[in-house]
Amino acid sequence: MSNKTWSGRFNEPVAQLVKQYTGSIDFDKRLANWDIQGSLAHAQMLHEAGVLSAQDLADIQRGMAEIQADIEAGRLEWSLDLEDVHMNIERRLTDKIGDAGKRLHTGRSRNDQVATDIRLWLRDEITLIRGLIKELQISLIELAEKNVETVMPGFTHLQVAQPVSFGHHMLAYVEMLGRDDERMADCRKRVNRMPLGAAALAGTTYPIKRETTAKLLNFEAICQNSLDAVSDRDFAIEFTAAASLMMVHLSRLSEELILWMSPRFGFIDIADRFCTGSSIMPQKKNPDVPELVRGKSGRVIGHLTGLIMLMKSQPLAYNKDNQEDKEPLFDTVNTVVDTLRIYADMMRGVSVKPENMRAAVMQGFATATDLADYLVKKGLPFRDSHEVVALAVRHADEQKCDLSELPLATLQSFSDLITEDVYQVLTPEGSLNARNHIGGTAPEQVRYQIQRWKDLLAK
Ligand code: ARG
Repeated sequence: MSNKTWSGRFNEPVAQLVKQYTGSIDFDKRLANWDIQGSLAHAQMLHEAGVLSAQDLADIQRGMAEIQADIEAGRLEWSLDLEDVHMNIERRLTDKIGDAGKRLHTGRSRNDQVATDIRLWLRDEITLIRGLIKELQISLIELAEKNVETVMPGFTHLQVAQPVSFGHHMLAYVEMLGRDDERMADCRKRVNRMPLGAAALAGTTYPIKRETTAKLLNFEAICQNSLDAVSDRDFAIEFTAAASLMMVHLSRLSEELILWMSPRFGFIDIADRFCTGSSIMPQKKNPDVPELVRGKSGRVIGHLTGLIMLMKSQPLAYNKDNQEDKEPLFDTVNTVVDTLRIYADMMRGVSVKPENMRAAVMQGFATATDLADYLVKKGLPFRDSHEVVALAVRHADEQKCDLSELPLATLQSFSDLITEDVYQVLTPEGSLNARNHIGGTAPEQVRYQIQRWKDLLAK
């Protein structure tokens, strides 16, 4: 089946390798449903504008319904000779309904058609992704709720810094994902604008009504410049950037899960169904899922780099370069969707080992800042109290014990402002409770944040 759609002006057929090189049907067939949606709206509008007869419209609708059914049943054979999804579908339509199929492309070009298809497709995928982000947030909140009072060491520089609630730590990721979701929602607004009607690049001579097509396709707005409409893929770059940031967030959580599951930390365990063994070392249980998420974050960032380079320096208007937008976009969506799905499930399979977390808190002088704050509240300037505590830490380190394990008389040898009540601030629980303000790690605040998120997510 040769491509008669545009081969009339050529003296020789396109070389086989060139067909393979320039064809996109292998991957853009994924857009078929959205291509049909766009075509049906275009045909309806052409009819309302008096360009297509009622009979032509009815034929197109019938033919497209058959094609849709053929695709669903896996009966439609995609042909590389027909280059891409648009020409494959148009040819099937013409095979089925005759001349009306050939009239469908009136006032339209593949340039505005493909730009419309990707936006229709991507806007649906963003809706799906937003739902999955929410699922993951819910699963993190469940874990946080069970661990409001679980004390773990908070780290800076990966050195024990101050005690934090494990629930608080989980909620940090809920916040990150909340911003990821905002970025998706915001980007969706710009995805949800209609290029259709821009035709090849300059618009069309037919009396089209773009408002009608936009309404039929549920677009929020219409692209207002035909050259821009067919050529820019900034919306795809924006989406991939938002996806990259989200993957970066998940790579951070992954790195923590991997560390925490290592016996050196022993903070958590991940359910067996998310781990694999080693073919040689019988004792191994490896955190493959978080490791792969960490790896796949690089893959998504690679797609962002690819797409942004694809756009760079492209002259107006459409260039074939833009066909290269699809595979990175598709792969980004696949990766993000799979990652979110598996992550929500995996977080439900995380078991926490509070005794090990607490033991780690007791090893790193995590309450040293609390002692310094205690002295400040008794009148010592902060810099002086910092020095006093540093000396006490040094002593405890030599004694191989925690600050809370030093006798009162020893503590008093560093400052006579210290009295019996010091032991309340030296416990991890005392340290947590003392940080009782918006955003602090005190259990009361963590509970408040959990409720705030539950209310937000219920909306
Ligand atoms: N397959 C093409 C793409 O993905 C469709 C648009 C082709 N337009 C053209 N003038 N060759 O961009």
